[in-house]
Amino acid sequence: MENSYSPSPSSSRRRFLKKTLAGVSLSTLATSLPVSASSSLLNSDENNEMYWEQVRQQFGLRPGLILMNSANLCPSPRAVSEAVSSGTQDLDFDASFHNRKKFGELRTELRQKLAKYLNVEVDEITLTRNTSESNNTIVQGLPFKQGDEVVLWDQNHPTNLLAWQVQAKRLGFTVKVISTPENPSSPQELIEPFLQAFTPQTRLLSFSHISNTTGVAMPSELCKIAREQGVMSMVDGAQSFGSQNLDLQALGCDFYTSSAHKWFMGPREMGILYVRKPLIPELWPHLVGVGYDKYEPEDIERLSTFGQQDIAKLSAFIKTVEFHETIGKEKVAQRITDLAGQLKEQVQSRFPQAKLITPVAEEVSGGVVIVQFPDQDHGKIFNRLYEQHQIACAPTGGLRFSPTVYNTSEEVGKVMDALTTLIS
Ligand SMILES: Cc1ncc(COP(=O)(O)O)c(C=O)c1O
Repeated sequence: MENSYSPSPSSSRRRFLKKTLAGVSLSTLATSLPVSASSSLLNSDENNEMYWEQVRQQFGLRPGLILMNSANLCPSPRAVSEAVSSGTQDLDFDASFHNRKKFGELRTELRQKLAKYLNVEVDEITLTRNTSESNNTIVQGLPFKQGDEVVLWDQNHPTNLLAWQVQAKRLGFTVKVISTPENPSSPQELIEPFLQAFTPQTRLLSFSHISNTTGVAMPSELCKIAREQGVMSMVDGAQSFGSQNLDLQALGCDFYTSSAHKWFMGPREMGILYVRKPLIPELWPHLVGVGYDKYEPEDIERLSTFGQQDIAKLSAFIKTVEFHETIGKEKVAQRITDLAGQLKEQVQSRFPQAKLITPVAEEVSGGVVIVQFPDQDHGKIFNRLYEQHQIACAPTGGLRFSPTVYNTSEEVGKVMDALTTLIS
């Protein structure tokens, strides 16, 4: 096996060093975390890789494991998993209505925190169980009819593609599925096909913010362009919530959906749904539970009366928002961009035969990096990476690596070393 690869500083790395030197405070991170996990963070902010090493130590990851699978599932920081446990114990200790009353307040606090994080209003945010459910809430909630048209990206997740096709069959509206050029280098290449697809019948455009199958990131202008044409926009943010510096008002979408358990590193089986205020009364519920009739049509909480829910996770979700706030969502996003950039650069320099499915340009990509090696069995490499090198990625579209804040530049090098031993 080769020694661990240490690249000369790349342009993205230089940019990263410049940016992070300018202001991540470890002592600030430490104050929001349990004392046991945070004391070692103090006084170490001069060295940036060290900072991120310390961030990693906030997680209970198995030593030696290189986990680059954020596009699928992330672990939570210890403070978050401890909150899941203590919330569960609290309920098991006393499941009375009286003891559970406080969880209503926690739900409000969480929605307020999420609204601030996303830069929207609290009454535009509700909680679901995951992106799949949030997507289906919109798909099944909008009363489209024959003659209406919905425009979709062919890279959408099934819950934002197949779900529309099933609903269109039921209600008689039309679904148009649009392809974009392979490996785009500019936002315009991605905008153009949608512009051409719009007709006076188009009511809604729906797309993945970042594709889980190619890593292509859709241009933020698309929502505003749609609105100018009188078209509503829905953004599936499964791959952007917790990985991008999000501002939904600036994005200008009408609907945004995501899961807490991917890049956001929150509790599992919790999701978010944003609906722009004037559109809330337009939506039918996909499920009517106890209490539905108590809500006014303009109350977004009307859309999530799912029966008994795991309220024990509410405070854990709050802790996750605080974790992101403490590091800073801009810095989280920059770190992810930088690690993805390092992966792409090293794939290109060390494996000239490889095909990067994900674009190199930062304007049209995010944290998801997909690579194919000609004449190789990707499923086999995927298994060997884990079994022989303790590297966890995904066998999606080739090999998919999705690094985040608990990954390090050293790990990127180790991934490349492992690939060198496995690619024949
Ligand atoms: C773009 C996109 N949308 C939706 C989902 C579904 O997410 P969940 O399983 O959390 O509902 C995924 C999962 O990978 C995804 O990548």
